[in-house]
Amino acid sequence: MLNREQIVSQLNNARFSVMVVEQTQSTNSDLKALALSGAPEGTTLIAERQTGGRGRRGRTFCSPQGGLYLSTLLRPTAPIHPGLVTCLAAVAAARAIESLCDLWVEIKWVNDLYLNDRKVAGILAEGVLDPGGALTAVVLGIGINLTGTLPEELATIATTLEPEGVALSREDLAAAFLNEWERVQTAPVEEGMSEYRKRSLIIEREVTVVQGNDTYPATAIGITPEGHLRVRTADGERELSSGEVSVRL
Ligand code: BTN
Repeated sequence: MLNREQIVSQLNNARFSVMVVEQTQSTNSDLKALALSGAPEGTTLIAERQTGGRGRRGRTFCSPQGGLYLSTLLRPTAPIHPGLVTCLAAVAAARAIESLCDLWVEIKWVNDLYLNDRKVAGILAEGVLDPGGALTAVVLGIGINLTGTLPEELATIATTLEPEGVALSREDLAAAFLNEWERVQTAPVEEGMSEYRKRSLIIEREVTVVQGNDTYPATAIGITPEGHLRVRTADGERELSSGEVSVRL
């Protein structure tokens, strides 16, 4: 079982209030409910495993025992786009992994972390609206594959840290992520975004853009300060605030 004390003792400040559970459907869903009942900024929930882990675009996130499934709550004081939260969290997660091993982690717009061309982690930032429809919180969730066998359908596109030769403690990784998340949040946004661009797996590459029912080829050419993706298509340049790209690896 995850050792909560080992996580808390490594945190650089007391801003995070950490809870650990053995099993839940989705730490993001739990934290959304807690947000609506008044939980403060920094409330953090980590699960040993999830039975209904959620990813972007309504997908499931396979969450067996052995991975790190963590959600933390933000109470933004100024308007913030969940997309930007996703980008900055991806930078924090990449730094956290690298602080514990000798690997270079790349980011595929907008929310996927890649190691050697395979997805090793995903991020899901979700806004929470109060009954009046105003944004009252953002739940930031991250799932990192550390060990274990992935389902067959994921075997060619995803990986865990283990086959990359790395055995990390989930406690060390959770604490490193929260410390890096704190660091990235307190630095100028442009600093985090500039690192996001450096880590991008897709810039200057041919991609397939998927937006709703629309799919088209493009070249990824940049990431804006808001975390939007700029692409060049046969018809000119476009800026994407949502959607997804796939890249031939
Ligand atoms: C994705 O790959 O599209 C995002 C995956 C995000 C998974 C994490 S695991 C912790 C938190 N709880 C969830 O249900 N999802 C996020």
